[in-house]
Amino acid sequence: MLDSGLGGKTCLITGGSTGIGLGISRALAREGVQLAVASRNPEPEAMAELSQLCGGNVIAIKADVSSEDGAVGMVNEAIERMGRVDLFVNNSARAWHQPITKITSEAFYNTINTNLASCVWASREISKHMIARRSGSILVVNSTVRYVPAYRESSYRISKMGLKMLMETLAIELAPFGIRVNLLTPGHYPTRLTAGISAYIEDKLKAQIPLRRFGNPDECGAAAVLLLSDRLSSYTTGTDITIDGGLALRPLSLLSDDEIQKLNAP
Ligand SMILES: NC(=O)c1ccc[n+]([C@@H]2O[C@H](COP(=O)([O-])OP(=O)(O)OC[C@H]3O[C@@H](n4cnc5c(N)ncnc54)[C@H](OP(=O)(O)O)[C@@H]3O)[C@@H](O)[C@H]2O)c1
Repeated sequence: MLDSGLGGKTCLITGGSTGIGLGISRALAREGVQLAVASRNPEPEAMAELSQLCGGNVIAIKADVSSEDGAVGMVNEAIERMGRVDLFVNNSARAWHQPITKITSEAFYNTINTNLASCVWASREISKHMIARRSGSILVVNSTVRYVPAYRESSYRISKMGLKMLMETLAIELAPFGIRVNLLTPGHYPTRLTAGISAYIEDKLKAQIPLRRFGNPDECGAAAVLLLSDRLSSYTTGTDITIDGGLALRPLSLLSDDEIQKLNAP
């Protein structure tokens, strides 16, 4: 079994008590990482589960990262309560979808502030802390949405494109201090974020996934451990692991399972 070496490290994760963030929190807790889980309302049930997994080494931080003050306060509280932050996972996001003729400044800036600006402010504070300690590892949660446009989703997709460039810039700025920065790119997962999608669209989406199913948030955990671990990923920075069942390969015209069987028939 591979030893990630993450046992005893401290991690601040945003949105770590629901969906994909919870999948990552669970995997880190199992590695023996001490967690600070930050969001507007960390889910009590998930916090209790994480506490069980990591022997009580988890704290909840109430923070709204969509404002600069909220993001800065979150980082300061994590450092103060855990003593230091070794790992940072930027995972929080929300979506306000509107077509271009109806887009409001409120929806646009809510999206950019919650998903992109939040990562700038939190990373600024985390970077100062990690540079002083000459160590650290940062993981930014992105999305396969950055590969293609979608109706009504300009703001959300712009925010995810922006996060990719932010991650790459952080990677070159922080590398001289031994701090690695990487991206984790999920495809489609049934979570609160995607709960409003109609069954019709879900079926169309599933038809574009070579593995023929949506992801389970726990399937993001191992990749997060790999990228955050200096032991397992010592020479990996500024890059990405995509966990999407092959969704990013679209617009691939998929054959049916029967047709694939026939192709491979002896
Ligand atoms: N689900 C998918 O198909 C999918 C695909 C690709 C990428 N992703 C990405 O995966 C990440 C997690 O999303 P998810 O799908 O797991 O959805 P989710 O369960 O809704 O998670 C979003 C998290 O962000 C937190 N959050 C939202 N606004 C916040 C704010 N202003 N301040 C602090 N925390 C805030 C939420 O907690 P509170 O409500 O308590 O604040 C929640 O825990 C996001 O970056 C998303 O873009 C998801």
